[in-house]
Amino acid sequence: MTTIVAIANEKGGVAKTTTALSLGAALVENGQETLLVDMDPQANLTLALGIQPSQTRRSVADLLLGNSSTLGVSRETGIPGLDIIPASGEMLLVERFLYVRQHYEHLLRRALSKSNMYSIIILDCPPSLGALTINALTAAQLLIIPTQCEFFSAHSLREMLDLIRNIRQRTNPSLRYRVLITMLGRTRVHRTLQEQIRSAFGNAVFETAIENDTKLRECPVVGKPITQYAPESRAAMQYRALAQELEEYVHQAVAQPA
Ligand SMILES: Nc1ncnc2c1ncn2[C@@H]1O[C@H](COP(=O)(O)OP(=O)(O)O)[C@@H](O)[C@H]1O
Ligand SMILES: [Mg+2]
Repeated sequence: MTTIVAIANEKGGVAKTTTALSLGAALVENGQETLLVDMDPQANLTLALGIQPSQTRRSVADLLLGNSSTLGVSRETGIPGLDIIPASGEMLLVERFLYVRQHYEHLLRRALSKSNMYSIIILDCPPSLGALTINALTAAQLLIIPTQCEFFSAHSLREMLDLIRNIRQRTNPSLRYRVLITMLGRTRVHRTLQEQIRSAFGNAVFETAIENDTKLRECPVVGKPITQYAPESRAAMQYRALAQELEEYVHQAVAQPA
């Protein structure tokens, strides 16, 4: 069975793309065939793997418009077991006109339903709650919400909970979610806010938190995930721990009926 995981937060710069890539790379180390899908027209995930969006012939746009199958749009990344469906600028147009199609929310789910050669599909969402994110949340069994321990994060977490409620009512009743604390520093403010998030969300927060690590900022420059660029770094270890925790969670919860 393929598990589809969306990574979303309407807030930008919270490590959605970093998490999609690092988690995907850690999962393939454990032998999980993984497909990354770059849902963001800004194509940061695509670029972080050294792929130029302007030079990709097919992208998520073709998948959503029904022009191509998953197999026709996906490509290898150079990391064995890890494939990607790249983003392209066309997705901005697609996002604007998707609404006019009937049942547009289900286009991605339908397109991915035949991709059973992957154990996990990771959808990296744009920092907005438009048609692309709605397609991702309709296709996913699990939503991961990366969040920083910052004062303004509480607001976007609330917005995300509203969105989950809405998606559950409209298109995907069994959508589950988990909060991931990212870019954690060692200051007192971070410690306090982490405690607040953990007590508010209980076991909906991954035990693994990702700390600040400047090595992660260097990864896109070299076009490699952290597990290859700095395999022994703290960030690589933490993303491996997250992969482990996710695998256990999928095994226990997602594979069972909601
Ligand atoms: N744990 C971390 N420590 C330090 N920098 C990080 C960490 N996670 C992400 N970053 C950096 O923060 C910036 C935003 O991350 P990104 O993954 O692009 O966020 P998003 O996709 O949510 O907009 C990037 O420059 C990225 O390299
Ligand atoms: Mg991003």
